[in-house]
Amino acid sequence: MRVVINGSAGQLAGDIIDVLREAGDEVLGFDLELDITDYATVMQEMPALRPDLVINAAAHVNVDDAELKPELSYRVNFTGTQNLALACQKMDCPLVFFSSDYVFDGRKGGAYNEFDGTNPQGVYGRAKVAAERYIQSVLDRYYICRCQWLFGTYGKRNFVKSILRNAREKGELSVVTNEVGSPSYCRDIAEMVVALAKSGRYGIYHTTNSGFCSRYDFAREILELAGMGDVSVKPILYSDLNLPCPRPPYSPLENLNRKLQGFPPARHYREGLAEYVEWLLREGG
Ligand SMILES: NC(=O)c1ccc[n+]([C@@H]2O[C@H](COP(=O)([O-])OP(=O)(O)OC[C@H]3O[C@@H](n4cnc5c(N)ncnc54)[C@H](OP(=O)(O)O)[C@@H]3O)[C@@H](O)[C@H]2O)c1
Repeated sequence: MRVVINGSAGQLAGDIIDVLREAGDEVLGFDLELDITDYATVMQEMPALRPDLVINAAAHVNVDDAELKPELSYRVNFTGTQNLALACQKMDCPLVFFSSDYVFDGRKGGAYNEFDGTNPQGVYGRAKVAAERYIQSVLDRYYICRCQWLFGTYGKRNFVKSILRNAREKGELSVVTNEVGSPSYCRDIAEMVVALAKSGRYGIYHTTNSGFCSRYDFAREILELAGMGDVSVKPILYSDLNLPCPRPPYSPLENLNRKLQGFPPARHYREGLAEYVEWLLREGG
């Protein structure tokens, strides 16, 4: 399979590229040098690449920045995706798109599945919902994969790296208790997404590891695994941080559609986390 992946320098893209190459697929990766927000470039360059599959892993992921610069967020997360969807329509090619638990308000009181209605509370979530709807309006062949709390070997930053860095530099941490979700190991998510993208079973999928926890409990688990369990972690509330973007307070994603379509269940995030922290410590991260 010949796969074009946009946002190829990103965290999740790195593992997807590895999984595809290990399976013998041909991967053409592009990051900012193929600006997905540039309609003319996308419509000219994407068809010339003759992909069998397009994976849009390009995004503006900073949810607080999105509140301060909404136009930038909508441009990358909505318009960029719109451009790739139009290119896929022209090429008659399936598209993989990554969405988020931020499409939900987090007030359901339980995990969200793919049949729950969306109600985004911030710019990033609204851009993702708009992109999901646009894809569904122009393409028959799409995989909308909603992810959450990613950590992996590629990319610039993630929660696990930040916790370990802050623990080393500051010796104590403050972490929120009132945000609950499903941490997800990029290698596991990459394997899931590639299996989906080769299945022909188009649709919306929640693609996370199983299990869920609060940010606070996640931080404690990370420190324990890294042998830094003695670092003090002060429990705080999101409101203490005065951040511009409202977080969904309780938004674990249940992978119900994957189950309905007969895909194997995801492993628990703790298994991926243990592997990942071991790798980070080996790499000196
Ligand atoms: N990370 C999470 O916890 C999380 C949670 C839920 C959903 N998701 C979704 O999962 C997907 C992958 O996330 P990720 O964490 O792997 O993201 P990431 O590491 O930020 O990767 C995104 C890549 O896209 C690039 N990019 C930005 N604007 C672009 C443009 N106009 N044209 C081409 N490339 C552009 C970025 O470059 P720069 O870095 O230089 O801007 C970056 O290399 C995204 O759709 C994200 O919204 C992520």
